[in-house]
Amino acid sequence: MKMDAKLEKLPLTKSKTDTLLSIFGISDIVPMWVADMEFEVAKPIQDALVKRISNSGFGYEYKPASFFSAQKNWYRNKYQIDLNKEQVIYSPSITTTLSVVIENFSSENDGIIIQPPVFLEFKNVIRKTKRKVIKNPLKLIEDKQYEIDFENLEELAKLENNKILILCNPHNPVGRVWRKEELEKIISICKENNLLLVSDEIHKDIILFGNQFKSILHYDGSWDNLVVCTSEAKTFNLCGISDSMAIVPNEKLRKEIAKVFSKYNLGRTNALTRVALETAYRDGDLWLNDLIKTIENNIHIIEQELVGSKIKLIKPEGTYQVWLDFRGIFDDTKKMFKHMTEISKIGLNAGHWFGREGALFMRMNIATSKEKVQSGIRRVIKAVPEN
Ligand SMILES: Cc1ncc(COP(=O)(O)O)c(C=O)c1O
Repeated sequence: MKMDAKLEKLPLTKSKTDTLLSIFGISDIVPMWVADMEFEVAKPIQDALVKRISNSGFGYEYKPASFFSAQKNWYRNKYQIDLNKEQVIYSPSITTTLSVVIENFSSENDGIIIQPPVFLEFKNVIRKTKRKVIKNPLKLIEDKQYEIDFENLEELAKLENNKILILCNPHNPVGRVWRKEELEKIISICKENNLLLVSDEIHKDIILFGNQFKSILHYDGSWDNLVVCTSEAKTFNLCGISDSMAIVPNEKLRKEIAKVFSKYNLGRTNALTRVALETAYRDGDLWLNDLIKTIENNIHIIEQELVGSKIKLIKPEGTYQVWLDFRGIFDDTKKMFKHMTEISKIGLNAGHWFGREGALFMRMNIATSKEKVQSGIRRVIKAVPEN
């Protein structure tokens, strides 16, 4: 199957004129930032949605048994996870779950540990809920790959004020897929220090180059002070219509979270979400395999284009973003950003949006056609001074 990027003309957030103007200062740029795709969703999902829409009754909708069995099979076959329906709380979005969890399992001014550079909403949610952002920055080893600073994490975990650790696995924006030993260390630190562990696994399905994703759920027997946030929205390009899940093995925790969801009536589904997801679970695998090959191929294109350039690629193990290192070229983030937008005319995420630890890096979304990836990276290279 050939993955084509045909969706550029849709009214997507990433190309909205006033959003572009407020973020980039100009609107005539190629938007390769927000993490959604320019690929059409899988044909079976399209067909199922068309069928559902043509049956145009849109009363209150629920998730039927067929949905749960398709979902259970997906998790069993792909991740060897025996998804217990009773342990799942459906949520409108992962960010909603993060707010609910933080507000209910910590108090104002408590510390919430994150590992920047990381998905920027972690920091925003912590601040909005009046907690303190506690950083355990990732370490960049030999300018090639990121690792967790376990020594520092242990120190932070010991501090009485720090209550929750948010793990991002795979890690947006640097693309690490955390290995078994790393996850085991995380669990052991949380366990020793009674930290609540929130594992955001939204990028779990886009695993590249033979790497293996392991959910923290595999370890729930030893540590169940755990909330796993996940969704297939990114996987199947359904961010505009999909909901998400909080998987909470511990009954007490789950009941407390469920109570808040019930209070704000956050559990409602809609007709399109459930049709799209159920079809994705049942018939989405072939499309997903093609997607992964396409993303890997796009990464090879970037690697080839960057040969001889001072821009360095931090090669991702997962996700459909690449993390580009401009430290050999710029020494000022503002200059770098201005250069990219005004000369390259390309809209990339500035690395410092993910925390100052990401300064002088940029994230590029490559879930688009190979032609666009090639022309995008060429624009970047061409416009960079003395490259
Ligand atoms: C790690 C991570 N978590 C969560 C989200 C967003 O999830 P939601 O739209 O369900 O809040 C993103 C989006 O890019 C993400 O990268």
